[in-house]
Order: sequence, then structure tokens, then C-alpha cells
Amino acid sequence: MALVNTGDLVAEAAATGGAVAAFNIITLEHAEAVVAGAEAAGSPVVLQISENAVKYRHGRVLPLARAAAAAAAAATVPVGLHLDHVKSPELLRQAADAGFGSVMYDAAHLPYAENLAATRAAADWAHANGLWIEAELGEVGGKNGAAPLDPHAPGARTDPDEARAFVEASGVDALAVAVGSSHAMTTRTAALDHDLLARLSAALSVPLVLHGSSGLPDAELAAAVAGGISKVNIGTALNLAMTDAIRTYLTAHPSAVDSRAYLSEGRAAMVRTAAALIAALRAGVPAGARI
Ligand code: G3H
Ligand code: ZN
Repeated sequence: MALVNTGDLVAEAAATGGAVAAFNIITLEHAEAVVAGAEAAGSPVVLQISENAVKYRHGRVLPLARAAAAAAAAATVPVGLHLDHVKSPELLRQAADAGFGSVMYDAAHLPYAENLAATRAAADWAHANGLWIEAELGEVGGKNGAAPLDPHAPGARTDPDEARAFVEASGVDALAVAVGSSHAMTTRTAALDHDLLARLSAALSVPLVLHGSSGLPDAELAAAVAGGISKVNIGTALNLAMTDAIRTYLTAHPSAVDSRAYLSEGRAAMVRTAAALIAALRAGVPAGARI
């Protein structure tokens, strides 16, 4: 049984100066590939299901959550199961029964006071139900089809003093910070604000989480972990790998019919991507750090 709590994985990684990779899954192939990639790398990993992925599955969280939990239980490395970017209180309340050990409650689009109030209520509920909870302050761009931020523009940033007050008042266990990454980037051209990351790392006692990590080149991923990021969220990179592989296969085999033929190509590409990104994170820390 390798299904473990995300909070334990993040705490163990943070204690050694390492990080845990957290991959967003949409299909069973994503879950299988992330587990296989983590096994190849010899690393713990988190399987994340976002509220948007639940919407894609006709609003039903259980089918993919149960599949992910089964994939985790069969893994040879520790695997956490995390409900990501939750805005719906109804979905939040399904998290524990659906098998998640952790959630990210996303009210970052709201003004500070409203974000704090909503996050505080979510944290109280999560802790009463045994869940580790992450929240966000200083919105990371590119969500829900919004254009990704220009990685070289200042964009939204998390203020260290405000972040410290937010964590203390909300009671969250980890904080997603806006330090220059943006969601859904299909090029690896983003650059982090390393000075801001250092100030956030010094100001906060809870683990820091990086979102929109697909847009970062290997060196920036390594620098993010070295700079104090303890959980690295990755989604689009898997979809790029899967879709490219399937497109290549179907172009070469235009009369293919059996979905296993092209889905296996897509899954294999995601295994390679997950393993390579975990290796990139490991390059940022000294030997012995937990990645
Ligand atoms: O919460 C999920 C991540 O922030 C994924 O972002 O798709 O840009 O890698 P990404
Ligand atoms: Zn995110």
C-alpha cells in the first residue's frame, strides 16, 4: 500500500531541502504514467485532480479518484492524492470521502479579505476532516483558459508580509506563491523572481508551492527547489507529451482504430516526461535531499 498523505510527503521533502513533484491527471493513462515515471525516478509523487478535471468527468470526482487511489496503492513509491484548485465548497466537502488526503483551496481571484475569509473557512473544514490544505495568495496567472502571463512582465506577485499574515490568519498548511510562473504555458520560457522567492521563504514557516511549473526550463525548476519550493505542480507538460505522441502515431498510422495503440504511445511519453522533470528537480538540491 503506497497511498500516503501529501502533507507527510511535503514535510519530509521540506525537512531535507527537497521537494515533491505533483502532477495533474485527467485520464487513467495520466495516473499510470505519473506512477511509472516516479517509480523510474525512485521518487515519491503526488497525483492531483483539479476541479476542472472533475468538470471534464461530468462533475463526478469518484471514478478518477478511485482509479488514482488504486494506481497509488499498487505503486512501489509513496504516492499522495490531492484535490487541486478547488473553488466549489460542494466539491471540497467530497474530498475526504473520495480518498484525498489533501486539497488546494483556490480563492486567489478574490480580494485579500474575501480570500482570507473563504480560505479560513475551508481550512477549518479541512482540518476537522483530517485533510492537509494548501491555499494561494497573489494569483498565479493563466488559469481556466486565460492567456498565460508574459513571463517577463511583473504580473501578480505574492507580498511576503501579506503572505505571513495570511498564513497565520487562515491556518493553512502550505501556500502557493506567485513568483513569475504562469499556468498552461506550452513553452519553457518563464523566469522566476528569485529574490522574491528568497524573501517569501524567509518570511514563511509553511512549505511553499509552485504552480504553473510546465513553463519553466530545467534550470529554473532546479533553482525553484534550491530557493525553497517544496511542492512543484505540473500539468501542461504531461498533456503536451501525450498529445504530441498520439498526433505522431496517428499521422504515421492514419487507419489505426484500436485506441490502445495510440494511448500507449501517449502514456509512454508521459512516463518519460514525468521522470525527466523529477530528475530536473533533483538537480537543484544536494545529495540526500528528498525528491
Ligand atoms: O495546479 C496545477 C499546476 O499549477 C499546473 O500548471 O499546467 O502550467 O504545469 P501547468
Ligand atoms: Zn495550479
